[in-house]
Amino acid sequence: MQFDMRSLPMAVRYKIITSTITPRPIAWITSMSASGVVNAAPYSFFNAVGSEPPLVVLGLLKEPASRTLKDTARNIVETGEFVVNLVCEDDAEIMNQSSAAAPPEVSEIDYAGIRTEPSVVVAPPRIATSPVSFECRKVAALDIGTQQTVMIGEILYAHVRDEFVSDRERIYFDTPAMKLIGRTHGSGWYVRNSDAFQLERPRFDPSRLAPAGEDEAAGK
Ligand SMILES: Cc1cc2nc3c(=O)[nH]c(=O)nc-3n(C[C@H](O)[C@H](O)[C@H](O)COP(=O)(O)O)c2cc1C
Repeated sequence: MQFDMRSLPMAVRYKIITSTITPRPIAWITSMSASGVVNAAPYSFFNAVGSEPPLVVLGLLKEPASRTLKDTARNIVETGEFVVNLVCEDDAEIMNQSSAAAPPEVSEIDYAGIRTEPSVVVAPPRIATSPVSFECRKVAALDIGTQQTVMIGEILYAHVRDEFVSDRERIYFDTPAMKLIGRTHGSGWYVRNSDAFQLERPRFDPSRLAPAGEDEAAGK
């Protein structure tokens, strides 16, 4: 089956993307409004996209009903700061609660019962139960089309909970122990990060380019 994405309704395009580009890591974003209300919400249009400087990207869609910016997008545009907190299995339920469309004056920190700690270099707090948190500043907010803002952020300061640091000298983390979760296909489906396998990165091997039959001619 093929799809001409240019002519499909937005909801169908969303379905095709979210059912196939999986799993997606979840940024549980804390931000602060100009009037000081702390906001928390999960975003799975999220990934790391660079390390010099260290960059993350977020896809912040508009509210489907009102077509207005979600609180997270408005806060980041207004204040230029946010924290990306990664989500562990134990926080799945509370993270999900924080995705309810609460009005801007309601803090999901209280609504969902999220425990926070102060950040070091940005105003919004980080989530205390997250294995990893990244304090970020807005680098660019790109309105592409009318329904979304692509937010690029620079990670200024990183927190990795001590229990997940296996070697401080060599900066080794026990990532499987973090039990991070990701978003997968369909409404409300998640994946655990517990089915890893390893492949060594190969060196380039020019002999693989030998034309078919050449090996036989060479008596190999
Ligand atoms: C796991 C998960 C991932 C989500 N990912 C996104 C996303 O990438 N982009 C988006 O606009 N909304 C996403 N949402 C929906 C927002 O979390 C939801 O609209 C929320 O109410 C926004 O809150 P805010 O207005 O406080 O920012 C996601 C929801 C869940 C549960």
